Amino acid sequence: MRMKVCRRAHFNAAHRLYRKDWSDEQNVAIFGKCSNPNYHGHNYELIVGVTGEVDPETGFVIDLKKLKDYIKSEIEEAFDHKNLNEEVVEFKELNPTAENIAIVIWKKLRKKIDTTYDIEVTLYETPRNFVVYNGE
Ligand code: NI
Repeated sequence: MRMKVCRRAHFNAAHRLYRKDWSDEQNVAIFGKCSNPNYHGHNYELIVGVTGEVDPETGFVIDLKKLKDYIKSEIEEAFDHKNLNEEVVEFKELNPTAENIAIVIWKKLRKKIDTTYDIEVTLYETPRNFVVYNGE
């Protein structure tokens, strides 16, 4: 039996949506207030789902303690209270939209979690706006 187990996590971070190769006018036209040069912050809510077989011996899909530790070391320590554009290497040349942040999170966790598992990243940028990425 395959099942998805989930862990919820949280980080606060600042960002600015902006393309260096666009004019200021173009950035404001597309990204609006989110292109504010002085940055703005979000309380990001992260839900990581890991799908795999329920081990008949342990009754676990994955040890949630391990998943918790991966999220802490790979995501929370890297992103929490950071300016994503300025301080997180993955976003030096990548616009830190919720979509791109979810992809970066997925790739970082993919390196840690055995490929027999599927990974799904749900990222809330606000209580009403969220994205879901599963590696497609
Ligand atoms: Ni924003």
